[in-house]
Amino acid sequence: MLVESSYNPSQIIEAHQIAIYTLSKYNINKGDKSDLKTICDELKINVNFIIDLIHQSDLSRVKVLDTFRYYDLLVLIDYLEKSHIFYKNKLLPKIEQYINHIVLLSNNENKLLSLVKDVFKRFEMSLIEHFYVEEKNLFVYAKYLYHLNKSTFNRYQVMNYVNLFSLEEFQDAHPKTEKDLDLLERALTELEVFLSDKLVYNALINTIKDFKRDLELHAIIEDFVLISKVSEMRQKI
Ligand SMILES: [Fe+2]
Ligand SMILES: [Fe+2]
Repeated sequence: MLVESSYNPSQIIEAHQIAIYTLSKYNINKGDKSDLKTICDELKINVNFIIDLIHQSDLSRVKVLDTFRYYDLLVLIDYLEKSHIFYKNKLLPKIEQYINHIVLLSNNENKLLSLVKDVFKRFEMSLIEHFYVEEKNLFVYAKYLYHLNKSTFNRYQVMNYVNLFSLEEFQDAHPKTEKDLDLLERALTELEVFLSDKLVYNALINTIKDFKRDLELHAIIEDFVLISKVSEMRQKI
């Protein structure tokens, strides 16, 4: 079902449950009775971008590129940064809480549980490191190029930084950490048969599925839309 800018947050969530992630990233209160357009205007957010994020169910690279390539680079980076914050502050702690709850219910006896905890901890650490590297390198570089193209920076100073960064090297070293979530999901599937209480388990599995989907869109926007814009800008200077 298509969402319109005249919908309020609860109507949007009713139409697309997963939209709650996008709204949270942009600090849009799900209980707000105003329509999305009014809320976005107040928060200075591009309402069409929010709607495109919510509608993006086709995660093919071509479709995502087609939808998002026309947005300003700063809108894209803002989305990527807000997503990192949302994953770090909301989703990862939520998953950890569910896992701890399952550990409590199982009296800590199951060996598979320690494996699940381990896989999660490693995933969490590598994802946070992954975000840190992007924020400190790619995003900074992209913003420099953006301003350089708009000539609002001291060209000489900025060129020094720009010349130090290699987009190709960044891409080569950029790990597909998102895929590690599959490992966690697999470990949890093994665990399912040993659990008598499935309520928290189901909530955990559903959160991981939504997280994977959200992270997949994030990765395509970052790895293809942003990177292609950055390399176009690089060629122009
Ligand atoms: Fe990222
Ligand atoms: Fe990434």
